[in-house]
Amino acid sequence: MNLLVTGGAGYVGGAVARRLRAAGHGVTLLDDLSTGHEHTAAGFDFVESDAGDRARVGATLRERRIEAIVHLAASCLVGASVGQPEEYYENNVARPLVLLDLARRAGVKRFVFSSSAAVYGEPDTTPIEEDHPTRPTNPYGETKLAFERALLWHAAAHGMAAVSLRYFNAAGATDDGGHGEEHDEETHLIPNVLEAARAGGEVTILGTDYPTPDGTAVRDYVHIEDLAEGHRLALEHPLPPGAAEVFNLGSGRGASVREVIETARRVTGVPIAVREAPRRPGDPARLVASHKRAARVLGWQPVRGDLAVIVASAWEFARRRPRG
Ligand code: UFG
Repeated sequence: MNLLVTGGAGYVGGAVARRLRAAGHGVTLLDDLSTGHEHTAAGFDFVESDAGDRARVGATLRERRIEAIVHLAASCLVGASVGQPEEYYENNVARPLVLLDLARRAGVKRFVFSSSAAVYGEPDTTPIEEDHPTRPTNPYGETKLAFERALLWHAAAHGMAAVSLRYFNAAGATDDGGHGEEHDEETHLIPNVLEAARAGGEVTILGTDYPTPDGTAVRDYVHIEDLAEGHRLALEHPLPPGAAEVFNLGSGRGASVREVIETARRVTGVPIAVREAPRRPGDPARLVASHKRAARVLGWQPVRGDLAVIVASAWEFARRRPRG
């Protein structure tokens, strides 16, 4: 298939694009490079644009004869979304609605959307199934949910087949070691812990009073190679026109912030120093996926689900990465 991967110069998008190309698809990347990196797009057919640019995206869809869109371009930080909700509504709802309209006009029949565990908010029970109530606790989750719903109605009205993938916490690097997490302003736990290990600094635990066994927040870390495979399976899954489905992509295992730090100490051999600080606004206590639906319907399995495997993969990338 001829595919457009938006956000393809980003962390998850770069891994997805590589996996789809390896599976034999024709892949065009679209990214405005606001947070993505040009070197991630190197070697791909690359269009520098935001996903809501009518002229550029419209021309790209027509000229490349795009048959399916994998949409990952987004603003994706929970904490930042609380302070700048308007940016999140613009990038995660308004621009993607333009993309959807252009897709319809260009006859694109399949759409895979990068959604998030943040749509659930603070869950009543874990592991979380897809039909658990969605009550986001931050603008980021609200915007992901808003676009999921828009996509569902759009698919039904216009005969598109749509899949929303609710990722849990993406982590690790590609198996070849060439692509991993390198945000300019890093907020994510695993890279911050590994940077403390590499540079001899300390890592901050954001919240030690959560209602969890050790008081720190619990997340479900899922390897980006597993996420990439989930996108391939979703894209190739036979869906009738007008259908819209939702799948969780998570390892099914929860790890607390303290457990991640302890695992990183074992993997790196460095006695990483910690500092305790208050909670970050908008952060839920515990998010752990049930991926039973993705396993049953798509045949997806998180084969790199072990936390030590994920942290070791991220460490291999982090310690080799050149510093500016
Ligand atoms: N944390 C720390 N110290 C840090 C960084 C993070 O204690 O230096 C804590 C956070 O407070 C949180 C946990 O570690 O409790 C994980 O934080 P991340 O920033 O790594 O990830 P988030 O859970 O906030 O967010 C990620 C993605 C979102 C997605 C969400 C779904 O960035 O896009 O997972 O769970 F919505």
